[in-house]
Amino acid sequence: MVDRRGSTWVFGYGSLIYKTGFDFLRCERAAVRGWQRRFWQGSHDHRGTPEAPGRVVTLVPAARAVCTGIAYLVEPAVFDYLDHREKNGYRRQPVEIALTDTGEVCAGVTYIAQEGNPAYLGPAPMEELARHIAASRGPSGSNMDYVLELAESLEAMGERDEHVSELARRLKEFSRPV
Ligand code: SIN
Repeated sequence: MVDRRGSTWVFGYGSLIYKTGFDFLRCERAAVRGWQRRFWQGSHDHRGTPEAPGRVVTLVPAARAVCTGIAYLVEPAVFDYLDHREKNGYRRQPVEIALTDTGEVCAGVTYIAQEGNPAYLGPAPMEELARHIAASRGPSGSNMDYVLELAESLEAMGERDEHVSELARRLKEFSRPV
């Protein structure tokens, strides 16, 4: 939604939930319908490298799904930062964002990495996702921390995403001393 000040809502569902690094005018718990979070996008620049990509979340269409996250109301200049941060395969996608606490429904955008982008990795069995993530690291830190911070943030918001929590559970098992 473009309001009087030219600001726009951005829905964050991955690292944008727990690591902002940009200014915003408002920040609200929120949800988008018809999308589900999946660790199907490769990361060459944050949680992996071009030679050994990590895995990060994207949204994939799923008719009855609801994905919860955080909506930020931002001024236009913030898109210079966001477009650069999400440059590894993500594109701005218009979405309808429901603000959890106020019930408002706003037009906005979210960053989605669609199938076919150069860094896309696609689905894999959960065990393979966990092993891949446990072994990956990039300039923004370990791929495991990306998953665990996302899982903790969702939990702190009172939200649960089975795909994220199952992955976090398996990763914690790998790191448990034997
Ligand atoms: C997002 O957080 O909304 C996009 C994916 C990411 O940067 O982790």
